[in-house]
Amino acid sequence: MATASTAWTAIQLRELSIPNRVWLSPMCQYSADEFGAPTDWHIAHYGARAAGGVGMVVVECTGVAPDMRTTARDLGLYTEKQVTGHQRLAAAIRSIGSIPAVQLGVAGRKSSHGVPWDNAGTRNPVPPDEGGWQPLAPSPIAFAGLAVPTEMSTKDATRVLEDIERAARNAHRAGYEAIELHGANGYLLHEFLSPLANHRTDEWGGTLERRMRFPLQMIEALRASWPEDKPVLVRLPAEDLIEDGLTTDDMVAVATRMAAAGVDMIDLVSGALTPAARRLTEPLHNARYGPRFRAAGVPVAASGLVSEAHHLDEAVPELVDAVLVGRAMLRDPYWALRALDAEPRQTWPKQYHRAF
Ligand SMILES: Cc1cc2nc3c(=O)[nH]c(=O)nc-3n(C[C@H](O)[C@H](O)[C@H](O)COP(=O)(O)O)c2cc1C
Repeated sequence: MATASTAWTAIQLRELSIPNRVWLSPMCQYSADEFGAPTDWHIAHYGARAAGGVGMVVVECTGVAPDMRTTARDLGLYTEKQVTGHQRLAAAIRSIGSIPAVQLGVAGRKSSHGVPWDNAGTRNPVPPDEGGWQPLAPSPIAFAGLAVPTEMSTKDATRVLEDIERAARNAHRAGYEAIELHGANGYLLHEFLSPLANHRTDEWGGTLERRMRFPLQMIEALRASWPEDKPVLVRLPAEDLIEDGLTTDDMVAVATRMAAAGVDMIDLVSGALTPAARRLTEPLHNARYGPRFRAAGVPVAASGLVSEAHHLDEAVPELVDAVLVGRAMLRDPYWALRALDAEPRQTWPKQYHRAF
């Protein structure tokens, strides 16, 4: 059934006009080459989704430094070879018909593990002598069976901020139009925010106000090294879904401060700090937090079980300003065009018109 959802209307973030509000959610492909650069897989995978009608393609979590990747097969944006590969990828996404964006990853303690299909992913730590690395985190508290991370020193923290700055400059040189900083799913920014992962006693630990200081420095570093006219998104947990973890009130306060620091859109997920976090399983589960986050004063997006066309009508604009679709678009690169269900000759790539 055809939908007239607001999801198909444009949205403006700074100087970037995005033609619709149905975007590809960042999803690690664990298919980088040995130098952390995009491969033919990335061109084919993202190219197909760009042809599939999404307003913006958010390229997967891309490490700002070798030890900020989750696995050795993650993409990076810290070498010239990687920048060259990303230039090709961003250009392909643009020329095929979508807006190229990239998610920057700062993995923290949830890193140096196997790829999901080889070794059960995060349940399989990869030590330094087998091609892994020693993870850094706010506090020496391990994620499940992964290595106990090294507590970050002030010097480490300065280095991470410099890594973010370099990755942002490289993302601009690669031709990306928007950056999303990964601040959720139990990675470094989330670890600093959550009292369950941050036991520091210095200026970066203690009250929520203090725990959000380093995350805000990460945002400031990113904003300062990324063009004024291009938007910054941040992916945040709407709550930890664990007893004594971050609450939605906490996260609305964090989102509000991040918006004041120059973030243009909040992208909501939930949980994932530890394996004990509850998992939400209803359609649109993260989008349902959206109205609370409007208090931050910037547009809000969410991913999480948007898998049927009618979910778009339910989500936009009542709950959120845009949706990111993940697994449904792994199953079907043309999910957005099918959901739009308009006259195919006006929406599908012209190369395919004879199919209709
Ligand atoms: C294979 C796979 C890889 C993922 N990689 C990332 C990632 O790189 N960064 C991220 O923020 N989320 C990642 N996610 C989470 C998705 O972006 C999305 O938030 C989640 O799957 C929920 O949306 P969905 O129900 O539409 O799939 C990944 C999910 C899958 C299935």
